[in-house]
Amino acid sequence: MNSSIASRFKGRDVISVLDFSKEDIEYLFKLTDHYLSNGYKEVLRGKVMAVAFFEPSTRTRLSFEAAMSRLGGSVIGFSSEEGTSVAKGEKFIDTIRMLDSYADVIVVRHRYEGSAKLAAEVAEHPVINAGDGRNEHPTQALLDLYTIYRLRGDVSSLVIGLIGDLKYARVVNSFLYILTIFKPKKVYLISHPLLRLREDVRRFVESRNVKVEEVFDINEVLSELDVLYVTRIQKERFPDPLEYEKVKNAYRVTAEITKRCKDDLIILHPLPRVDELDRSLDNTKHAVYFKQASFGVPLRAALLTLILGGVEGVYT
Ligand code: NCD
Repeated sequence: MNSSIASRFKGRDVISVLDFSKEDIEYLFKLTDHYLSNGYKEVLRGKVMAVAFFEPSTRTRLSFEAAMSRLGGSVIGFSSEEGTSVAKGEKFIDTIRMLDSYADVIVVRHRYEGSAKLAAEVAEHPVINAGDGRNEHPTQALLDLYTIYRLRGDVSSLVIGLIGDLKYARVVNSFLYILTIFKPKKVYLISHPLLRLREDVRRFVESRNVKVEEVFDINEVLSELDVLYVTRIQKERFPDPLEYEKVKNAYRVTAEITKRCKDDLIILHPLPRVDELDRSLDNTKHAVYFKQASFGVPLRAALLTLILGGVEGVYT
């Protein structure tokens, strides 16, 4: 155990994936590896995690909850505004302030960009961003990168393609930000012209010396890809339903691509999927998205262990 790195995690907020250094992330991955090979220990007994999910979620919330339970801690919270005082008009910051007095860590998801940062300003205890509008979803990016690290090793030699809704998907922003720390060989941004990556995000990624290129057709680059990251069209984030209608069938990745892709291409998807990722791919060796989702528990367990200061108990 490297106690100086461990101490950097203790009590910290996780708002953006850019809050971490490469060394921090590699350390987190080692602890994740440890949990996967050795199982969990109840190092967070007596600790309480609050989940404040103002937006729908399946995997993120449940994997945080499973992680906390595996570590011996307990969970309070809510998974929608219904049934809480938010439905009565309680302000976001009042809800956070209250949870802060009940729990040791707060995991928050909200439709507004900047909500996690605001929560962190109000709360004394650490806040983990589980998705703030179309901005970021840092623990998803950690999990995505962990999947690549685990299955393919060194990221620096890889060509990575992102396909789908690059405009509204927060997972895309966080994934690209983490790639600025790990620097793959090249990134292809594959999207319909109406779903292109936001200019500010693209400029930032390029300013960190990551080679990116936009293409509108996957066939132009398919044979070069080592990793294909597919995203869902974020229907709920379109300000104009007509804009959504124009792109709703813009792309669909099917088993057809396996005829022309690299033999060891891996396909990731944060899930949930709708029609963009065909089930015909599920039984191919390229599909790793369910494995990716399964890594959510050990990765989030490692993060909670470090933030709540339980790491010494893991190795003793
Ligand atoms: C993602 C999200 O909520 O941003 N889901 C997840 O956490 N696995 C992606 C999505 O909803 O498309």
